[in-house]
Amino acid sequence: MLDCIIATCSSVPDLDPDDRLLLQALRARGFAVETGVWNDPSVNWSAARLCLLRSTWDYPKRFEHFSRWLDATNRATLVRNPAWLVRWNSHKGYLRDLARAGIPTVPTAWIQRGCRADLVSLLADRGWSEAIVKPALGAAGLNVLRVSPGSMEHAQTHLTSLLKDQDVMLQPYLEAAPHPELSLVFIAGTYSHAVSKKAFDTKLAIGDAAARRVAPTERERDVAARAIDAVPGGPPLYGRVDIFRSGNGAVFVNEVELIEPALYLGAHLPAAGRLADAIAREL
Ligand SMILES: Nc1ncnc2c1ncn2[C@@H]1O[C@H](COP(=O)(O)OP(=O)(O)O)[C@@H](O)[C@H]1O
Ligand SMILES: [Mg+2]
Repeated sequence: MLDCIIATCSSVPDLDPDDRLLLQALRARGFAVETGVWNDPSVNWSAARLCLLRSTWDYPKRFEHFSRWLDATNRATLVRNPAWLVRWNSHKGYLRDLARAGIPTVPTAWIQRGCRADLVSLLADRGWSEAIVKPALGAAGLNVLRVSPGSMEHAQTHLTSLLKDQDVMLQPYLEAAPHPELSLVFIAGTYSHAVSKKAFDTKLAIGDAAARRVAPTERERDVAARAIDAVPGGPPLYGRVDIFRSGNGAVFVNEVELIEPALYLGAHLPAAGRLADAIAREL
């Protein structure tokens, strides 16, 4: 029996360099670990005690298939993060739960699938001149569009098209040079390390992570930690909180990624070992 299969996608069957650090750390602890492409029917998930979701990056494009696979895998073995938490986290409506728990989240107008929405009046009502349109179910910047006064017509077409089959979020465009977005990584609920990202830098090259390591302020760490603490079911095995900081020192949670976040393990040497130890406790 294997101890763990690390679930990945077909574009990175051998894992990204970060997750290879984790694989090495697990094997160094004596665990039998293999990798498996989530939608490869030849993988026998019940052959392992645990399925660890890592680089299943293509899931938003085939969410229904992923969702069925998740249910089946959940019957076959222990899935981490747990399937129910993955489901909670897959629709960004979870940000409303966090806001209700007092976490500062990015101001958002939620537009339900199938509704008509007039971008010009939505923006005028809220006093937002520059905005972001993005799907409520998404990752890696897919269909995220910046809206400015000069691109309203194009943005309206994009919004109308998204609304045909999905819920959509409209947010003010938050900008604070030089590093608008910070990713704070938590392992078993404990803060590990953070990296900064440039705007729309959704595929921060993994090898780059070390160079982008930053020390968040106390306020930034506190907001991110409170967001992790507010996740239902207690501290998740792994999680990444992405925050924006605006010019006046305000901090907003943009996402809490609990499905398959890049964890930038290469940015902080002890992180892979700590995650391996936390996985060992799950086993
Ligand atoms: N409200 C916003 N203000 C400024 N930039 C944003 C905003 N929302 C998203 N972005 C930019 O778009 C990128 C992708 O959006 P994000 O909300 O992180 O969705 P995804 O789930 O696709 O990663 C972010 O990394 C950021 O650079
Ligand atoms: Mg993101």
